Amino acid sequence: MLMKTFFTLLAATALLSGCYYDKAEEVYPQLLLNNSCDTAGTISYSRHVTVVLQNHCLSCHSTASPSGNVTLDTYAGVQAVAASGQLVGAVEHQAGFSQMPSNNPQLQPCQLTQIRKWVQAGAPNN
Ligand code: HEC
Repeated sequence: MLMKTFFTLLAATALLSGCYYDKAEEVYPQLLLNNSCDTAGTISYSRHVTVVLQNHCLSCHSTASPSGNVTLDTYAGVQAVAASGQLVGAVEHQAGFSQMPSNNPQLQPCQLTQIRKWVQAGAPNN
């Protein structure tokens, strides 16, 4: 009897953890590209910021079709909204800014940290 309960629990745990890992890859697509959402050390425009923008923003903010006149596939375009406060305001859903990504779930906390850290460092082209 005890043994049976034990094996049932074991099976349930295995099933649950299986689901958890499946979901993590869906919820954090950058895990597949970067193998991590690293927030330690210097945040790089080319290695971190562009990955987030590519996955969540460029469908609406490419040079070819820049929603709200915001272009996020060039450094100059990203730097402009970083300097104006619109980038952090929009992704953090601060009052007075449109909530981005529009009609999609908010970015993951580690992605928000990457963007905030990069902007606070002066939004370098690194
Ligand atoms: C589904 C389309 C869509 C996606 C995806 C999207 N945006 Fe937008 N964005 C818009 C539209 C439309 C506007 C202009 C109208 C508005 O402000 O709502 C806009 C406006 C903005 C603005 C100006 C906001 C303001 O209040 O001044 C910023 C900054 C911005 N987007 C950044 C982003 C970032 C960063 C992402 C990805 C994390 C993103 N957007 C994803 C459609 C989108």
